[in-house]
Amino acid sequence: MKTGNIKELLIIGAGKMGQQIGFISAMHGYDVVLYDVNTDLLDRAAGRIKKISDEFVMSGRLTREEGEIVLSRIKSTVTPEEAGAKADIISESAPEDPELKGKIFAQFNKICPPHTVFTTNTSTLVPSMFAEATGRPDRFAALHFHDIRMTDLVDIMPHPGTSAETIEIIENFAASIGQNYVTMKKEKSGYVFNTMLSAWFESAEGLAANGIASVDDVDRSWMSVLRVPMGPFGMMDIVGLETVWKINDFWAKKLDSKKYRTVADFIKKYLDEGKYGLKSGEGFYKYPDPEYAKPDFVSRKKS
Ligand SMILES: NC(=O)c1ccc[n+]([C@@H]2O[C@H](COP(=O)([O-])OP(=O)(O)OC[C@H]3O[C@@H](n4cnc5c(N)ncnc54)[C@H](O)[C@@H]3O)[C@@H](O)[C@H]2O)c1
Repeated sequence: MKTGNIKELLIIGAGKMGQQIGFISAMHGYDVVLYDVNTDLLDRAAGRIKKISDEFVMSGRLTREEGEIVLSRIKSTVTPEEAGAKADIISESAPEDPELKGKIFAQFNKICPPHTVFTTNTSTLVPSMFAEATGRPDRFAALHFHDIRMTDLVDIMPHPGTSAETIEIIENFAASIGQNYVTMKKEKSGYVFNTMLSAWFESAEGLAANGIASVDDVDRSWMSVLRVPMGPFGMMDIVGLETVWKINDFWAKKLDSKKYRTVADFIKKYLDEGKYGLKSGEGFYKYPDPEYAKPDFVSRKKS
């Protein structure tokens, strides 16, 4: 099957990511079917997709009429047989649980036509963990999205059994929905950008949590040398401090690590004060006018 033959995309899991992937694919002309476990979730997803569409209209990326056409391409169902019958490609965005993902793929392997390519949007797992469960390991790989409102990068991560033809189909599909893709040569939890991002966060968190440098000075250093508009703590405010805490708490428990526990405790103090980051109006910085965005944040020169 060539990418030109892909007409219908099935999204499994109509949560935060399924909504975004469904929207961007419909915007590029694909028929999209959203599948989730109950109709309330699908109704909520439809409302959120409408909001994404409105944002695109407001920012001039779509006209109102185009927005309506995009929304008309998205259907939803709670019936697996209906969802999978005509799918040419699947994007799975169910919760981050390898057993659940394996079960879902096995279920849809029985329903979908033999040509259907299966992809997973997992953040931290690798496709070989459930390749066999798909029943079509050669037609399966990870296709991982970031927030489509902020970026247009996707990671493609094949497992050792993914066929070259499948990789090409996924690459072409990604490009056809306006995404820049990177295709990994080996499996690696966290993909490319997120691997670098977590190392960057970790070193910044270590400096501040151990009292070596202040949050502001860590960001100031990064922004001053690289001449970029934001440092690691500004970025963590966007990601959300709850997520940052969860990651550190997870590794602190799993590795019984003092290093991660020190960082988790440091972040927890912000959470205890209701500072969750950008979404709550305050994290390391106060919004909507964070200190780091002010002209004299980096520049302290007297002349
Ligand atoms: N949130 C992010 O920023 C982000 C970014 C990239 C990748 N991911 C990955 O995408 C996946 C989904 O994340 P999310 O943030 O959209 O989660 P979410 O919780 O917003 O959505 C998950 C959806 O899956 C549905 N679901 C549960 N069981 C199901 C089943 N058996 N069949 C079909 N649907 C089912 C849930 O009802 C829910 O609507 C995860 O694997 C996550 O790691 C998340």
